[in-house]
Parts: sequence; C-alpha cells; structure tokens
Amino acid sequence: MAKSQKLKVLVPRAEIRRKVREIARRITRDFRGEHVHLVGVLKGACVFLSDLIREIDLEVSVDFMAVASYGRERNSSGQVKLIKDLDSSIEGMNVILVEDILDTGLTLDYLRRILEERRPKTLRIAALLDKPSRRIVPDIRGDYVGISIPNQFVVGYGLDFGERYRNLKDICALVPEPELNEHGHPKHTP
Ligand code: IMP
Repeated sequence: MAKSQKLKVLVPRAEIRRKVREIARRITRDFRGEHVHLVGVLKGACVFLSDLIREIDLEVSVDFMAVASYGRERNSSGQVKLIKDLDSSIEGMNVILVEDILDTGLTLDYLRRILEERRPKTLRIAALLDKPSRRIVPDIRGDYVGISIPNQFVVGYGLDFGERYRNLKDICALVPEPELNEHGHPKHTP
C-alpha cells in the first residue's frame, strides 16, 4: 500500500501573495506603456498566473502551453514533450513564460528554445518558486523569481503530487509518514 503523506507549510499564503505582487510590480515597471503576453505552462502555473495577471497594471493577453515531464512521479524523467501548443503567433510580442517552479530547468529550456524560434520581441521567464540546487541546465534562470526553496518536493497553489493538492492555499512540503504496524507504531525497517 502507498505510504500516506504529511504536509508541512513551507510558504504561507501571505508570503505567496507578497511575492506575486512584487513580481507583478516589476513586470509593470519593466514594460511600462507596452503590451505583455503571458504564456502559462499547464497545469501547475494556472493558479500563479491567475493571481499574477490581476496584479499587472498593463495591457495583458494570455495563452497556454502544456508539457509532459513529471506525470505521477516525483522525479523528472529528463524528457519533455509538448502536449498543447499556443493558440496564436507570438511574433513581435513581449512574452513572459509563467511557470510554477524552476527545478532542473529542462522544461523551461525546452520551451524557451521553441518560443525563441518564433521571434518574439522579448522573452522573459517568471517562476514563483526556484530550486537552484536541482538545476541540470546551468544557463537557465528566471527573470522574475519569487522564492528560492531547498531541495524538497512541494505541493499546493497549483502544484500537485499525482494530481492531488493543487487546491491548497499554502505551499507545503510533502513529508513521507512511516508505515505503521498493527499496533499503530512505526514499522522498524531492518
Ligand atoms: P523542471 O523541468 O525539472 O524544471 O520541472 C518543472 C516542472 O516539474 C514544474 O513545472 C512542475 O510541474 C514539476 N515540479 C518540479 N518540482 C516540483 C515539486 O516540488 N512539486 C511539484 N511539481 C514539481
């Protein structure tokens, strides 16, 4: 049977809110008087994007891409596959790729390369969370990054574990619980 999981709040909702506003203020300042096109990476970034867009004081449009990399596993397979492409051209636009978390960097490296070929005016990366210690692609970095976190698997605020926990308001670390014996005590592993 699968081990049950305990959740520990890592980034409380008030801090998430502060960081989202801070990122939105920086985007608003950097693109003053211009139009920005947010490209959300489904599904994880949908909650971050929907809060972010309402804090940006510019003309904004939105599109989405979907990639497969994690599935139900905790570790990336190292392969990224495009599942849903953009609905329209981004040529000449100020594009901001909006991601929930920058982990190994494989997803954003893949998406950045695809999007650069389509000749946007500018291409920036916004990621709410960053796990720098997990990076495999060395030259990938977020232009707008909210919070750096340690190498822990997190859920909530759009992030899932096997499609669970996306609706949590706080970002939480998953702490594996020990398996219990018939007396309700942790089983000793040999
Ligand atoms: P990367 O390609 O390794 O940078 O991974 C990016 C994607 O992996 C994110 O968009 C998430 O969907 C997923 N991911 C990475 N770390 C976590 C985590 O701690 N919790 C949930 N999903 C994660």
